[in-house]
Amino acid sequence: MTSALVPGSFDPPTKGHLDVIERCAAIFETVLVAVVRNPSKDPLFSAEERIELLKECCANWPNVEIGSFDGLLVDYARQTRSDVIVKGLRAITDFDYELQMSQMNRHLSGIVTMFIATKPEYGYLSSSLIKQVAGLGGSVDSLIPAPVLDALKARVHDD
Ligand code: PNS
Repeated sequence: MTSALVPGSFDPPTKGHLDVIERCAAIFETVLVAVVRNPSKDPLFSAEERIELLKECCANWPNVEIGSFDGLLVDYARQTRSDVIVKGLRAITDFDYELQMSQMNRHLSGIVTMFIATKPEYGYLSSSLIKQVAGLGGSVDSLIPAPVLDALKARVHDD
């Protein structure tokens, strides 16, 4: 049984993230989506909020679970007996950093990282851009799943 670990900040989850998770769910027996609790940037949504949003968005995929971690990803991979880390690649600009991280993770624990190319229509999508555009009043309706859109609208209006 091969289990995939899909880590990320998911602040907030986008349709690009869900595309990668859905394709993992079709390939691997189990998929653990892992929310990093303290991303390098100050998050808009708390870890609990990001976890709840992902649970709602992934509810139709029975082999997908949502978890969270602090510290090193490879330690979490070991604790959860994950076989492979999976990351989405949008463009060549992602590649350098993702390759570096995958090689460091391999050095630390021997774990394999696999990359899934993002759907072209989501190639320009990032959580940071979504937050910036929504914060400035632009429409992101077609780029994020419905539960995230509701949460983002509420958060932007609150501020
Ligand atoms: O969604 P992101 O921001 O691209 O996710 C990056 C993430 C969370 C996968 C990465 O920052 C990470 O693995 N953080 C945990 C700390 C760690 O293990 N650092 C060493 C990576 S080589």
